[in-house]
Parts: sequence; C-alpha cells; structure tokens
Amino acid sequence: MSLLLDGIAELTTCDPSLGEGPTGVVRDAALVIDGGKVAWVGTADSAPAADERLSAEGGAVLPGFVDSHAHLIFAGDRSAEFAARMAGESYQAGGIRTTVAATRAATDETLRANAARHVAEALRQGTTTLEIKSGYGLSTVDESRSLRIAREFTAETTYLGAHVVPAGADPADYVALAAGEMLDACAPYAKWADVFCERGAFDADAARAILTAAAKHGLGLRVHANQLGEGPGVRLAVELGAASADHCTFLSDADVDALASSSTVATLLPGVEFSTRQPYPDARRLIDAGVSVAIASDCNPGSCYTSSMPLMVALAVREMRMTVPEAILAATVGGAKALRRTDVGRLVPGSRADLSILDAPSALHLAYRPGVPLVRRVLRGGEVVV
Ligand code: NIG
Ligand code: FE
Repeated sequence: MSLLLDGIAELTTCDPSLGEGPTGVVRDAALVIDGGKVAWVGTADSAPAADERLSAEGGAVLPGFVDSHAHLIFAGDRSAEFAARMAGESYQAGGIRTTVAATRAATDETLRANAARHVAEALRQGTTTLEIKSGYGLSTVDESRSLRIAREFTAETTYLGAHVVPAGADPADYVALAAGEMLDACAPYAKWADVFCERGAFDADAARAILTAAAKHGLGLRVHANQLGEGPGVRLAVELGAASADHCTFLSDADVDALASSSTVATLLPGVEFSTRQPYPDARRLIDAGVSVAIASDCNPGSCYTSSMPLMVALAVREMRMTVPEAILAATVGGAKALRRTDVGRLVPGSRADLSILDAPSALHLAYRPGVPLVRRVLRGGEVVV
C-alpha cells in the first residue's frame, strides 16, 4: 500500500543533491512512501499517484531526529541536585551513584515503564531513532537487565558498565569485571560499548582495556570524552576507531586534528551545558576543521534531563553558533553517522520513512520558536505513530 504525503510547504531531505542548500530543501513538495520506505520525493506538481493520501496541511517535513546518545534505563529523581546546581554548586559525576542505588532497587516493570515514558516523550518531539545506554546498574545482574530492557525499545543499545566505579568497589577489580564477566553477560543485548573516560571515572588505560575487550565481542565503540576537562578520551576514541566521541567540550588542538583526520563523529550534547551551566563546546572550531558533528540529547536524570531534540537544535543555533541547516543536519544525518546508519536521517528514495510534520512552514522555526511544541505528526517506517 503506497502513501502520497503532499501539502508540504518545505521538505528537508538532508541530501543536498535533492534540493536547495545544504539540507536539500524542496518547496511545495510531496513524498511517496511504499513498504515503510521513501519511494519518491519531488515537487507536488510532478508527484506520481499512490493508493492513499495524507496532507501535511502546509507544514514543513523533515527526517525524524536520530538521537544517538541517551541514558534512559534508570529510576529515581535528582531534581534536588539540579536545584543545588542552579544555586551555585557545580556538576559532580559522583551523582551517578544516587541513580545507581535507585535503579538497583527498582523492579524490571518500573525500569521498563520509565523507559517507555521517555521513549514516547522523545517520539512526540520527532525522535524516531534513539540510542539507549545502560550505566546505572554497575553490577553484572543490573547492567545485563538494563540492556535487556533497553533492547525492548531500540536496536541501538550501548553497554556502559564503565560509567563510574560503584561505591565500595576496588577500581582495578571493577575494570576487570567490566572487561570480563559483566561484558560477557551484556554483549548479547548490546550493539555498542561506551566508557566514561574522565578524571574521577576511568583513565585511558582502563577505558582502552574495556573497549578493546568489547570490540572482541563485536561491539562498536563510543566514548564519553572531554566533558569536564581536557583529557585522553577523544584521542582514545580516534585511536580505537570509535564511531563517536561524545561531549567534546574541552578540546586541545591535537584533539581537533585527530577528529578531523578520522571517521569518528564529535557528538555535541548542548543540553548538558544548559543544565549544568558550563561553557558550550566550540562547534564552529570543529566544523571549520572539517570534523563530522552530531547533536544528541544525552537525556539522563543527572546532567541533562530532557529528551527534546528540538531544544538541542535551538541550543546548537543560539549557544553554539551553528547555522540552522548545520543544526538540522547534525540532529539527523549527523546522529545517523554517529550510529553508522545510512538508512535513517535523510528522506531520499530507499531510506526509512521516518519523518516529522511540523506545525510551521519551515524547519527554521525549530530554532526560531524555541520551546514551542511544533511537531504535529510523526511517521516511523511509514506508519503514523504520533
Ligand atoms: O553523559 N558523563 C557521564 N554520564 C552522563 C551523566 C550521568 C549522570 O549524571 O547521571 C552524561 O552527562
Ligand atoms: Fe551521556
């Protein structure tokens, strides 16, 4: 059954060969979906016939957001920590242990219900592909059940047993566990492995040991890198051929050069700087050096409790001096590249029919009208899901 989507004031394909400018914009556009995939894109006056029709009613259409970094398997609340930060305290990665205690104490049903609520919330804001990390279990049993539950929501699951050393554990023993028995138990449910490589979490040697072991299990690699200060994380990500180095807030020239000459995407998480009152990453320096950039939510109960990709677009534009097309590309194809996916993030013949219809005439309004719920409808695999 084919579907013609017409009445599109502005179609953002995210493929410059299909339309105007870097985001490949087609005005007065239409799109045909068949078998869950995009079958045709072009101007409405040249659209082929289809079995069914849906009108975008003069709204803009763009690819579903690809949120390549989120921590959604958790229980508990850290709003008091946020309030203390807004009253002047600084962000402490040790707050992760508060969520670990609440997560371990929660039933599977509670973790599943929490994840479902956040996934639905993200979908309503146009996120159609979402990565989900473990990292609040930090025991073999709790990390593997976190990933088992994450797997119910997405194929993009990430083992983050090396988030912090849990309270009471010996650091060297914990690295051995995270690279050994815990990894063995988690690998069947994970596509990716990630390590928080930062002072106070895991140093380069520990991170390398865990990530190398994970690669032997066939997992792809990602690294939480250079969030709280300069350090070895970004260069380790490049050395190991990781798909993504995430945060990239404090970078040396050598870090930027390493990223520029690699296939590792720099995933910027501006919601974290917003929610921790830290300086934003220098997106212009990265883009001007030729680094591939993604933006993602990092939705988690500590450093950034929002699942809103439209907010990330607005922050990227306002606070990181990205142009609107750059921010839209970073939230779609950029995220897809960070997950090494070519089937999502663009609306081109053959790609998955994952898209949002906005209550606005152009995608520019995502940054122009921050905080306004502009996503009117969402299609995933060609099905209307919102
Ligand atoms: O990406 N930096 C490490 N992990 C999360 C924060 C987790 C937390 O504070 O609970 C992040 O910011
Ligand atoms: Fe994170």
